[in-house]
Amino acid sequence: MNILVAGGAGFIGSHLIDALLAEGNRVICVDKLVMGKRNITHIKNGEKFRFYEIDLSNQGRVDRMFEEEQIDVVFHLAANSDIQKGGKEPEIDFRDTLLSTRVILESMRKYNVKKLFFASTSAVYGELFDVDLTETTGGLMPISYYGGAKLASEALISSYVSMCDMSAIIFRFPNVIGPRLTHGVVFDFIKKLENNPKELKILGDGTQCKPYIYIQDLIEAIMKLAKEFGGGETVYNIGVIGKGTTVTRIAEIVVEELGLKNVKFNYTGGNRGWKGDVPRFSYDITKVLSTGWRPKYSSDEAVRKTVKDVINADM
Ligand SMILES: NC(=O)c1ccc[n+]([C@@H]2O[C@H](COP(=O)([O-])OP(=O)(O)OC[C@H]3O[C@@H](n4cnc5c(N)ncnc54)[C@H](O)[C@@H]3O)[C@@H](O)[C@H]2O)c1
Repeated sequence: MNILVAGGAGFIGSHLIDALLAEGNRVICVDKLVMGKRNITHIKNGEKFRFYEIDLSNQGRVDRMFEEEQIDVVFHLAANSDIQKGGKEPEIDFRDTLLSTRVILESMRKYNVKKLFFASTSAVYGELFDVDLTETTGGLMPISYYGGAKLASEALISSYVSMCDMSAIIFRFPNVIGPRLTHGVVFDFIKKLENNPKELKILGDGTQCKPYIYIQDLIEAIMKLAKEFGGGETVYNIGVIGKGTTVTRIAEIVVEELGLKNVKFNYTGGNRGWKGDVPRFSYDITKVLSTGWRPKYSSDEAVRKTVKDVINADM
C-alpha cells in the first residue's frame, strides 16, 4: 500500500512511519521540517520511503505530489504542536494545523483518495473538568488557538467524508511521550534540571493533572484501528488505564531518575501553566478498549520510561 504520512518527520509521525515500513508498506512522508531532519535520517535512503519537503499550506505543491504518487491512504499528523508558541502567534495554528487539513482534503478530493486518519487532541474538549470525556461528550469549547484549529479540522473532515464519500478516523490523543520527544513538560524538566540541579521552576501550582501515553502504546492503537477500520467516520479517545500524572509527580520522577537530592521546587502559582493550557482532564477510553487494544503502560510508568529514554539519548 502507498501511504502518505503528513508531518512524518515529527515525533509521533516518525514512529508511525517506522511501524508502517516494518509492515512492508511504501511510505511517502511530507513535512516542512520545523523541528529539523533528525527523525527520518535513519530511513531516508530506504527503498520504500520517499520524502517531500513541502509546506502543506501550499495547495499547488501538495496537488503535484498527489499527482506524482498513487496514494491509497493518508495519515495527517502535521500541525503546530507547540501550543504556547501558537498562543503568541495565532497565524501558526491557522496555517499549520487548520489550513494543512484543508489542503490535504482538497488534494484527496481531486485525486480520489478516500481514506484519512487524523491526529486530533484532547484540546478540542476545552475545560470540561467534571466528566470523564467520551467521544460523544458535547459542548466542546477549545481554549487555545491550537484546540480551535483541531476542532475546526475535525469539522472539515466530517464535511468531506459526507460530500466526497471518504472515510476517516479521528484519533484524539492525550499527551504523548517517549523517545524523540522535543518539547513539553517532561522534556523541559529534564533540560532545566540538567542545567541547574538545585532548583526547578514549575509553571502553575503543580496540581495540573493529565494522562500521558507512551509512544509505542499509541502507535499500536493507531496501527490496529487503522487496519481494522470498516469505513464511515469515527472518533477514538486514545488514553491510558487509571489516573493521570500531576506536574509535581513528573518533577519528582525526573528528580529520582536523574539521581538528584534536595531539589527546590519553585512554583509560579495559579492553576495552569499558561493561557490556553487545559490544567486537567480525564478520558473515558471504553470505546478503544472494546476493540481489544490495551496500553502496556500507566501514565506514571510512561513518564518514568520517557525520562530514562531522554536521559539515555543525551549520553
Ligand atoms: N505530542 C503530543 O502530545 C500530541 C498530543 C495530541 C495531539 N498531537 C498531534 O499529533 C500530531 C503529531 O504531533 P508531534 O508531537 O509528533 O508533533 P511534531 O511537531 O513533532 O510533528 C509535527 C510535524 O508536522 C510538521 N509540520 C507542521 N506544519 C507543517 C506544514 N505546514 N507543512 C508541512 N509540515 C508541517 C512539522 O515540521 C513536524 O515535523 C500533531 O498533529 C499534534 O497536534 C500530539
